[in-house]
Amino acid sequence: MTQHIGILTSGGDTPGLNAAIRAIGKSALGSGKMQVVGFRDGFRGLMENRTMRLDRDVLSSILTLGGTILGTSRDKPHKMPVGGTVMDMTDVICDNYNRHNLDALVCIGGGGTQKNAYRLSQRGLNILTLPKTIDNDVAMTDVTFGFHTAMEIATEAIDRLHSTAHSHHRIIVVEMMGHNAGWLALGAGIAGGADVILIPEIPYDPIKVAEAIRQRQLRGTRFSIVAVAEGAMSETDSKLYTDLKKKKSEAKENSDGKKKKKIEEALSEFYQARSNHALRLSKQLEEMTGLEARITILGHLQRGGTPSAIDRVLATRLGSACVQYIEQGISGVMVAVRGEGTEAVPLEQVVGKKRFVPADHALIESARRVGTCLGDV
Ligand code: F6P
Repeated sequence: MTQHIGILTSGGDTPGLNAAIRAIGKSALGSGKMQVVGFRDGFRGLMENRTMRLDRDVLSSILTLGGTILGTSRDKPHKMPVGGTVMDMTDVICDNYNRHNLDALVCIGGGGTQKNAYRLSQRGLNILTLPKTIDNDVAMTDVTFGFHTAMEIATEAIDRLHSTAHSHHRIIVVEMMGHNAGWLALGAGIAGGADVILIPEIPYDPIKVAEAIRQRQLRGTRFSIVAVAEGAMSETDSKLYTDLKKKKSEAKENSDGKKKKKIEEALSEFYQARSNHALRLSKQLEEMTGLEARITILGHLQRGGTPSAIDRVLATRLGSACVQYIEQGISGVMVAVRGEGTEAVPLEQVVGKKRFVPADHALIESARRVGTCLGDV
């Protein structure tokens, strides 16, 4: 009997999504026992029943394309803006799953998608997920696809910034994505030979950063590259943030709505102030070192364009393994990367966790050994 497989991509786009769609689609069609349908724009398309035919013609030309041919969104099934109000659309989504006679739905996404997918699997849908994000912060997988390409793009940016920083004897603060995880800044920072790498997992002291730059000046090097993750915080900001988060959960526990609202306002002011974090840091470093400083925010450049060979291979491995798991009747799992192979990890073991850079990670040790300042010593 023919099996019907649905695919959607959700959350921020990532290089390699099309390679994954292709791998699932081609493996499924190749089995001779499966048909595939794509849903547009993540869970919203599933809710609105907007589909895309995924036949061999469509699948044959997408391996190298950036973005996702299905489109994506950050919409959540249980909290979806519909006609000006936010509604729980889970029932509609379940109805559409059944309307298409789906035997399995593959949700490709990052941490948020894993959570939403888990909720749907708890409602009885056969869900499998693939871990993608340039942040590389999904728990229970060695790596996520998209990360490698973004690291290559960020590394190339640092390489290019080196020559201009060198020519003008400047500090260049380059901000990278990564949300609250430092994988991207750490990886690209090491690969690009950044002099300072600041990541969320290690709160930094601007005085120590300035001191590292001054030491370089004393050695006759009048430029420095500071690679900073978007989520990196100074020690002062980090204390303030931890304090606000603690107070918010206390207010929540005590059902103190008024206090919770006040803290939420303080948190949103905090986020607002942090939006020009790279600029603030560059000004501080300029004052403390006497060198001119500039900033470069890489932003969405890191998510665009063609996936690297490594990400194409990874997405193909995960997508084809996913179809094997479907053939075996496995669902409620994320298809994780484990060494050279894959592993079907139950979604409940994935959700609510994030993969941060551990303080004792080998890359941190390597960075320190080659003299990179991480802002703490
Ligand atoms: O999760 C991927 C990511 O690119 C993060 O690195 C970044 O914080 C966020 O998405 C940006 O989201 P948006 O594309 O919605 O601005």
